[in-house]
Amino acid sequence: MFETVRPRREVAIIGVGCTKFGELWDSGLRDLVVEAGVKAVETAGISGKQLQLIIGGNMSGGLFVGQEHTGALFADYLGLNNIPAIRTEAACASSSVGLRVGYLAVASGLYDFVAVGGAEKMTDVYGPHATTALASATDQETEAYFGATFPGVYAMMANRHMHEYGTTREQLAKVAVKNHDNAMHNPVAHFHRRVTVEDVISSQLVADPLRLLDCSPITDGAAAVILAPADKARQYTDSPVYIKASAQASDSLALSSRRDICTLDATVKAARHAYEQAKIGPKDLHFAEVHDCFTINEHIAYEDLGFCKKGEGGKFMDSDQTMLGGRIPVNTSGGLKAKGHPVGATGIAQIVELYHQLTGQAGGRQVKGAEIGLAHNVGGSGATVAIHILSNKL
Ligand code: COA
Repeated sequence: MFETVRPRREVAIIGVGCTKFGELWDSGLRDLVVEAGVKAVETAGISGKQLQLIIGGNMSGGLFVGQEHTGALFADYLGLNNIPAIRTEAACASSSVGLRVGYLAVASGLYDFVAVGGAEKMTDVYGPHATTALASATDQETEAYFGATFPGVYAMMANRHMHEYGTTREQLAKVAVKNHDNAMHNPVAHFHRRVTVEDVISSQLVADPLRLLDCSPITDGAAAVILAPADKARQYTDSPVYIKASAQASDSLALSSRRDICTLDATVKAARHAYEQAKIGPKDLHFAEVHDCFTINEHIAYEDLGFCKKGEGGKFMDSDQTMLGGRIPVNTSGGLKAKGHPVGATGIAQIVELYHQLTGQAGGRQVKGAEIGLAHNVGGSGATVAIHILSNKL
């Protein structure tokens, strides 16, 4: 067991940047990084020369665009090759793990100004190649070797959840309907298209019971944030957002080694530490971004994060509490499902959404009175989970 983090000093986010998400034919990986990074520095009101460390999440530049060594590459293209640069990789949680590293760097007092970003350029390869690249984050010996893909792995979890708890096909579909609705208000979202329960249920079968509209898409995009010590944040911005908790946990890659495939134990552990560090419980949250890579995973996240009891994710969905205007709106950005899922960028993109909500900049999807929100980012099928709790109050 690990101890809850006790930071030496509080850490703030003073600026954010995000590209459009989607099939971005006119932009390469480095263009996306520069766009998000420059936006983040501009909104932070600092000079790039003040940055002391750059951290870039990237899941698989090697398989998607033939480019490894992306930490130094990102720094180079941002004109920052005079400072240390780190690439973080934890599958779809690559950049939230990067945020945790950046948080620890500032909280420890070692660095003041740190840029943390994430980027993935996924659409330069054909669909089956993208599926194979993603499957490299499953267990090669017990899953990918036998042809398991991520839709297949999550389909097993969905089938088991439906069998154990009576979760219905319609309850899964409602996640996609809600998140596509929310994405209508997010200018950077991959999809601006409403879908109905019937659309989801009749969309093309991918891995039974999951259909096309149960899946997050293959997306290009990048996102970045600038971290600073809380006591210096107001020199640069009137609206800093504070990191109240940064937690991470691990589990086995292989589903076959798990105690229960209807629960992500890493979410449960990371959530416990995050709530302890922030000194709150799930009922204190005003909104959350959770890892809805497939619709079933939003239900499982509700349960594992303590928003409802185990097995009641479907009923909780039916209660409409996670809709905009509900008790705890979830995935106001459109989530991975409709905002898009450029895997290495997703964790920081969730943080960008939290920042926009907490600074009142979320437009038509603004949660009224939002003061505290949670971001939940899963690597693979749950072998890595990173959770951050952010607030606009110190
Ligand atoms: N949701 C909604 N629409 C989608 C979509 C999705 N996830 N994926 C593709 N589409 C749309 C496309 O926009 C396109 O629409 P159009 O015909 O109007 O232009 C159409 O469906 C076909 O797109 P295409 O790119 O040919 O789809 P595909 O069959 O190659 O890929 C999936 C569909 C579901 C297989 C792919 O999106 C996928 O693998 N998703 C999961 C990604 C993943 O595993 N991520 C890691 C999670 S742990």
